[in-house]
Amino acid sequence: MNVVIIGFMGTGKSTVGRLLSQKLDYGFLDTDQMIAERENRSIVEIFATEGEAYFRSLERKLASELAKKDNLVIATGGGFPLNRANLDILRAKSIIVALTAPAEIIYQRNIKDHETRRPLLETENPLERISTLLAEREKCYAIADIIIDTSHKAEVEILNEIYKKLK
Ligand code: S3P
Repeated sequence: MNVVIIGFMGTGKSTVGRLLSQKLDYGFLDTDQMIAERENRSIVEIFATEGEAYFRSLERKLASELAKKDNLVIATGGGFPLNRANLDILRAKSIIVALTAPAEIIYQRNIKDHETRRPLLETENPLERISTLLAEREKCYAIADIIIDTSHKAEVEILNEIYKKLK
């Protein structure tokens, strides 16, 4: 069994996923990190030089590969569930957890998060872009088995909430 964490950028997938893997004594993988390592360049560079479609094809390949694995918490990039097949292929062996938050909160978190540059939010009006993308993607995140609203919650609280629901 695996736990796959999906959700918009800035909902805490990687941090919470890592903590959850420790608590469950599972391995931890992060699809963005795996892609960047294999390509030997950052996600920003991949988007800039190859475009989004190329990045999505790497996510697709990774989904098929991860479907064979076990005992992992897998944190995914925010656009990973856009291709329904990516979750369908993982679903047989995985519980899917979605982390959610409203646009305003995601915007605040992304502003604070100076370290990570997110190519899809490199725009003049990131809040508007977040709202548009969220509206487009709501359906993709809603198919999770467990959905957790992360607004105004500390990472440990989110972790404990997921853990309780998994049990
Ligand atoms: C994306 C989210 C990013 C990364 C890429 C595209 C998206 O991951 O995969 O920039 O389409 O929402 P995070 O959700 O980890 O920031």
